[in-house]
Amino acid sequence: MSFDFDHPPERRGTDSQKWQKYAGRDVLPMWVADMDFAAPPAVIEALQQRVAHGIYGYARPVPSQVAAVVENLSSLHGWTIDPEWIVWLPGLVVGLNVTALAAAGPGEEILCLTPVYPPFMSAPRNAGRVPVMVPLAYAAGTRSWEIDWEALERAVTPRTRAFFLCNPHNPVARVFRRAELERLAEFCLRHRLVLCSDEIHCDLILEPGLRHIPTGTLGSEIARQTITLLAPSKTYNIPGLGTALAIIPDPELRRRFVHATHGIVAEVNVFGFTACEAAFRHSEPWRQALLGRLRRNRDLVLEAVAAGPAGARIEAPIEATYLAWINVADLGLQDPIAHFESHGIGLSEGRHFAARPRAYVRLNFGCPEATLREGLRRLHAGLAAAATAS
Ligand SMILES: Cc1ncc(COP(=O)(O)O)c(C=O)c1O
Repeated sequence: MSFDFDHPPERRGTDSQKWQKYAGRDVLPMWVADMDFAAPPAVIEALQQRVAHGIYGYARPVPSQVAAVVENLSSLHGWTIDPEWIVWLPGLVVGLNVTALAAAGPGEEILCLTPVYPPFMSAPRNAGRVPVMVPLAYAAGTRSWEIDWEALERAVTPRTRAFFLCNPHNPVARVFRRAELERLAEFCLRHRLVLCSDEIHCDLILEPGLRHIPTGTLGSEIARQTITLLAPSKTYNIPGLGTALAIIPDPELRRRFVHATHGIVAEVNVFGFTACEAAFRHSEPWRQALLGRLRRNRDLVLEAVAAGPAGARIEAPIEATYLAWINVADLGLQDPIAHFESHGIGLSEGRHFAARPRAYVRLNFGCPEATLREGLRRLHAGLAAAATAS
């Protein structure tokens, strides 16, 4: 089956957050993590049918929608879940914030590995909890970002209550291996920490030899203190439909989590449930085609950064996601984002991920090849200009 990833609908002038940021300016947006691809045809068709129904009341998932989640986790990841474990949410960031409330008390601490998606640090703060950042260690020999186990142990205090894991990891695009996940599980068990595992990128693994290992499959003991956050949103490019889920096997932890949602967390809407089912049930050929496209795009980015003007480096393989984490420290720029915007490309600011200031930018390569090639041309222009200026 072939799908068109080259001629997406025009997003300029639409409600797109990604494109509105640069409305009226000639800046290609390659920042926030949504892709410039239309959703899978099966999703669009299911939504059209749902629109045609004409009544959009308060929603509850029907059994086939719940079954689609259960079957998807079983077939793609070998994870058998009980439908009772599912708590539907309007987004994963909501899930991180609710977990901060449910897993820790005021002033208590939540660990995460940095650099990391900014809400891992803001969610604890929003709840009056304290994020404790443990930097990933870059291992030059293996070209990979590793967990610094000694630093992690040192970071634990009597107030530590939870660990926020991002797997696959945004922004370093790493897929954690079984041995690391087992060691993390042992760490969380020993320190009695809730393990909150954000696995939103788990169906976007680009390395054919790698598999996603759901934290929930690491054993019944750790599963009892695990909250897994998932969504079809990144993979099937439907983040604007606000549909996500937490999977919480332990009834008491689930009760605390649900309690923390009361009165403040909106319900998932009719379109979200419909799109979620169509994505999980009928869009696997599209996902496979997407992965092929993303692998090609990733390779273009790697080649362009390696072969382009000096000053930018991608230090580790991009194993998953459609995000490239680029080290630009050697350019010595005061404001890398403003610099690259002035050359027509809008990137994400590494500092927001708790990276060293002025050292990293993140590039979203989930777009048609022509857009990507133009973005990379502009990246090169920015690099060349920075080299001349220094
Ligand atoms: C790791 C991670 N978690 C959560 C989200 C956002 O999730 P949501 O839009 O469901 O709040 C993103 C979006 O980029 C992400 O990369």
